[in-house]
Amino acid sequence: MDLEVTLNGSQERLEASPADSLLDVLRAHGYTGAKRGCDTGDCGYCTVIVDGEPRQSCIVPAKQTDGATIETIESLGRQEDLHPVQEAFVENTALQCGFCIPGMIMNTTAALRENPDPTRTEAREAIEPVLCRCTGFKKPVEAVLDAADKMQDAEVATDGGPTAASETSRDEGDGS
Ligand code: FES
Ligand code: FES
Repeated sequence: MDLEVTLNGSQERLEASPADSLLDVLRAHGYTGAKRGCDTGDCGYCTVIVDGEPRQSCIVPAKQTDGATIETIESLGRQEDLHPVQEAFVENTALQCGFCIPGMIMNTTAALRENPDPTRTEAREAIEPVLCRCTGFKKPVEAVLDAADKMQDAEVATDGGPTAASETSRDEGDGS
């Protein structure tokens, strides 16, 4: 069977077997940024954005994504031109082995679209689905908050004017 999808902004036809997960299909077609950790929906390393929602691609049947819009980490920045969320994880040294980071970054990206100015608690919740075995969550939470700032700065630069950025809500509800 073939899937017709919008993948990272381009129309793509992807070959798939009926039993394939979305992760199987993505990795078979070279989109290896999504990592296979548990393959049971528990670790979050395989997260991609499907129709605007972060999904653990290892438990999404590929056949259900025919016609979907899919974003993988390959849609973000490149080594020499990182996306602000990627930049924030690097600058905050929020990674060690790096295996969970695509999942962290895709969850963060989706969460900041919904809520561009998260509290610390909300930042923690954004990456809750990803089980990092190296860093714990302190630095990744800092990275999510920094990513929010960077995204808002980018918005100011684009619009040429201030945003509703506010630090006041940040310090509420420190649950990390
Ligand atoms: S590999 Fe998909 S959630 Fe772990
Ligand atoms: S940095 Fe190693 S699992 Fe998260």
